Amino acid sequence: MQIIKTAAELSQLLANQNAIAFVPTMGNLHAGHIQLVELAKTKNACVVVSIFVNPLQFGANEDLSSYPRTLDADLEKLEATGANIVFTPSEQEIYPDFDASSNNTYQKITINLPRISDELCGEARPGHFSGMATVVLKLFNLVFFNGANTKIAIFGKKDFQQLFIIRDMVKQFNLPIEIIAGDTKREADGLALSSRNSYLTPAQKLEAPRLYRALGLLVDATKKGNTDFATLEVQTTRFLTQLGWIVDYISIRSAETLLPATSADLKLVVLGAARQGTTRLIDNIEFTLKPN
Ligand code: PAJ
Repeated sequence: MQIIKTAAELSQLLANQNAIAFVPTMGNLHAGHIQLVELAKTKNACVVVSIFVNPLQFGANEDLSSYPRTLDADLEKLEATGANIVFTPSEQEIYPDFDASSNNTYQKITINLPRISDELCGEARPGHFSGMATVVLKLFNLVFFNGANTKIAIFGKKDFQQLFIIRDMVKQFNLPIEIIAGDTKREADGLALSSRNSYLTPAQKLEAPRLYRALGLLVDATKKGNTDFATLEVQTTRFLTQLGWIVDYISIRSAETLLPATSADLKLVVLGAARQGTTRLIDNIEFTLKPN
């Protein structure tokens, strides 16, 4: 496994690769990330993993400075999983005008996203998805555009809206990259693995799987024939609020367009974001309804 810090070295190393499978991450790797790397390993390609905590996708009051950074442990896990190349660039490498004293990226050209990116997680995190898409496009440029014929990038379904936006960006910018989605890896109690779970107190950690369970109960209700989506969203929100959660949203959407679900939609996803104290957790469940 080679650990590469600069774009120039990465480009040189990848010049002769015929196939690349790329897994972008922000590090603090858990079994969910590793599952994506394992999926990359099945593609008969050079497996590249990036570790970069991207300042451009964090809001002013968010956890950029406290985001867990565990490079040594991450590298051990990636070595054990059989990643070929780990790209760990500095901020300056990704943002040529980066100012370390203020964490300002001075990135003046960013990806302008459609309205859907201001909804759901975008509502509580203005600018987040534009910053995310911008860094992903930069990483795609660095990883893919030195010759490989087969270009695969792998993202988790855990961040359903992120995956949706990346797929849309790839389509709208005509990028010759295949996007593959990996399933959400969960604890035995159902809690989706997330780097932010480490912020939870023991009591919050016990309560945390409730978000997934509440989404599951909502899905069960739709399968039993209740398709009053608005009421189901309100009921689930109320249920979690009564248990002390601060709910950002519970929303049933078309899994294909991410627009609010209508009775005509059969492929659906329920997405939720809610806080335990100051820790914001997100989750989602895709489901299919039978036609009437
Ligand atoms: P990060 O949160 O580190 O996640 C990296 C990848 O791991 C994403 O594709 C995410 O969806 C996936 N992932 C996270 N938790 C998962 C789980 N429990 N099961 C399966 N996959 C999981 O997402 C980002 O970083 C950044 O926004 C990034 C795309 C790297 C751009 O900065």
